[in-house]
Amino acid sequence: MTQKAWGGRFQEKTDPGVETFTESISFDARLAEVDIIGSQAHARMLAEVGLITDDECRQMVETLDAIGAEIAAGEFEFRTELEDIHMHIESALIARIGDIGRKLHTGRSRNDQVATDLKLYVREAISHVDHLLIDLQKAFVERGEHDIDVMLPGYTHLQRAQPVVATHYWLAYCEKFDRDRGRLNDCLERVQISSLGAAALAGTSLPIDRHRSCELLDMQIPAANSLDVSSDRDFLVEFLFDLALIATHLSGWAEEWILWCTTEFGFLKLPDRYTTGSSIMPQKRNPDVLELVRGKSARVIADLQQAFVLLKGLPMAYNRDLQEDKLALFDAYDTVVSCLQLAPAIVRGAVLQRESIAARLDEGFLDATVLMEYLILKGVPMRTAHETVGGLVRMCETKNQKLTELTVAEFQAVCDKIDKDVYDVLGTANAVKALKSYGSGGIGPVREQLDRWQQRVKDEE
Ligand code: ARG
Repeated sequence: MTQKAWGGRFQEKTDPGVETFTESISFDARLAEVDIIGSQAHARMLAEVGLITDDECRQMVETLDAIGAEIAAGEFEFRTELEDIHMHIESALIARIGDIGRKLHTGRSRNDQVATDLKLYVREAISHVDHLLIDLQKAFVERGEHDIDVMLPGYTHLQRAQPVVATHYWLAYCEKFDRDRGRLNDCLERVQISSLGAAALAGTSLPIDRHRSCELLDMQIPAANSLDVSSDRDFLVEFLFDLALIATHLSGWAEEWILWCTTEFGFLKLPDRYTTGSSIMPQKRNPDVLELVRGKSARVIADLQQAFVLLKGLPMAYNRDLQEDKLALFDAYDTVVSCLQLAPAIVRGAVLQRESIAARLDEGFLDATVLMEYLILKGVPMRTAHETVGGLVRMCETKNQKLTELTVAEFQAVCDKIDKDVYDVLGTANAVKALKSYGSGGIGPVREQLDRWQQRVKDEE
């Protein structure tokens, strides 16, 4: 005989090696709080439908609260032979209130229980990540006002392309994180479908009320198919995808700023408190935090991969493989949270190297595209204008000059449509001023963008 909750049909004690191999308490203990919330909703529903008495329900709910408090205080002993968090809490309940505790699992299985726990956990996690994303957006919006008078080269292929207001960069990140927030919110729709009462796979012959337990959990609707939902982890894969994309956005930002902090770029300086030194080279100030933000994204992407591989060959319904889903979930969540907790301070603390940016801003023909557009406005067909400006740039390169340095006569020798008003669009500062289209990096459009974002951020408060 064994003491296990499922021990009835077994004649041998479980091998200790199997207990160690199959346990999940070492990582699912962090589901304790949501496990208790799920069990309390289940108990209340059981009382309402008459499967337990109100007094039994009250004792269950109170004792579960006490157990939860002990776990939270670190005063609860976890034991490998009790497998997982569900068994720990249930056996503690039984140890304290005896037969009443033995009724908690009525009309429920660990399969719908763990799915419920995960949904409650992910719901909280989404809200936490969302708040961290808002804080990061705020940091960029604050920088937006501060840096609106700074111009930066915009790049494609990491080659200088066209100039933009620095704030355009900051608000570009805001947009990315906004899509991330939208995706999290979308994922929430699937998270809010209650699994509770799907039982092992087929539901139950007992008169449970799944709509009621759904309501008690503050979820949207009970899932319509017990077979599906008792093993469904789609919501978890979606959340992992959302996290992986957040990590990817953070990684791109980190990479960009790492480049910008180099002597070669000289755009940005990170505060000392967010950089680290070298143990051999005394002059070094390394952007290790940003490098780790970039590096940690690999793990988050791998966690998503793990979830896919875990699920791809599983027949319905629950399979024990699913126990491993939590490792991916917790790792990805913790990793993204750790990055998001540091990122806003780095965004706020970094200093644009205005002088060194300005000193080289007229390099790289950042005004060439606007010059081409000047010709288009004078009636030159686009392709002809492109070729003309290409020729002018080549000429400047051979003479080691900038477009601003060409004389009207030199311009007119190439194209008679060019007049002295050409100098109104030449030079990086003029080129930025000339950008007018909606969503562009010009001063006017960026000011409008920033106004919208400032309002958005205020509305979040
Ligand atoms: N620890 C298990 C998990 O995380 C709980 C569900 C166990 N269900 C079962 N039928 N053995 O998946």
